[in-house]
Amino acid sequence: MTLTVTGSINIDHVIRLPQFPRPGETLTGRDYRIVPGGKGANQAVAAARAGAVTQLVACVGDDAMAKDLVAGFAADGINTSAIDAVAGVNTGVALIQVSDAGENTIALAAGANAELIPERLERHASALHCRQLLLQLEIPLETNLAAAQIAKAQGATVVLNPAPAQTLPDTLLAMVDMITPNETEAERLTGVAVNDEAGAAAAARVLHDRGIAIVIITLGARGVWLSEAGHGRRIPGFAVQAVDTTAAGDTFNGALVAALQQGQALEPAVRFAQAAAAISVTRPGAQTSVPFRAEIEALLEQH
Ligand code: RIB
Repeated sequence: MTLTVTGSINIDHVIRLPQFPRPGETLTGRDYRIVPGGKGANQAVAAARAGAVTQLVACVGDDAMAKDLVAGFAADGINTSAIDAVAGVNTGVALIQVSDAGENTIALAAGANAELIPERLERHASALHCRQLLLQLEIPLETNLAAAQIAKAQGATVVLNPAPAQTLPDTLLAMVDMITPNETEAERLTGVAVNDEAGAAAAARVLHDRGIAIVIITLGARGVWLSEAGHGRRIPGFAVQAVDTTAAGDTFNGALVAALQQGQALEPAVRFAQAAAAISVTRPGAQTSVPFRAEIEALLEQH
């Protein structure tokens, strides 16, 4: 059975800058590129390259790039039969600035991602008959609720990457088996500041109390906080020189669920996902940075 990702597809317009411009300031950048992105698509690509049987439920527009994007997903081995091309709208767009420090800012236009409404899921019910459903927050919230409901009713494990940060209803959280916020997202969901291990443990407790069995808070260079059955521990990451952190979280999520699909236990799956994310930050762009299984295994072997 598959890992199904329900989520966004974006065309990323990326420009590198020495630093981010201040309001009202114009800065000349370099290395402008158009790169396939979108959190849902990035996670599906990461899962497929990590070896998972993967399907993507999503929408593109009727612009010139849409067909190439879908062909790219198919080339990565992703089942694209539940990607709808929606007439009269553009594919989602992300305007991304990457600073020389490797950080980014992202401005989104949802485009076709806003057309992934619950009614569309009815036509793609077979895609939601999956082993794991991986969700993020760049599509309408009611679609995530409906997808979780359908998949959960058929026995799927529901994994939520709550990005971009927003508050969420208990109705969604109650259906989630595993959640993977970063520090900012964890604080938005719980009201607990995650500045250290004590903060991560406290935020994880709040999420456990809302019914989520496994909480994985990504802590950037400090690794991740893994909490199950109320017991938490920090798993350190890999030290690498970051050139671009875009899609590092997406790579982590896709690789994590792929490793779980392949039967790895939770902690080795987290290590596998950390290795995948570590490789991704050493490369520019979103899907252009996502590693393949052999590369991830090679890094794990070196350590
Ligand atoms: O997580 C990175 C992604 O966020 C980018 O690819 C961009 O499309 C935005 O959705």
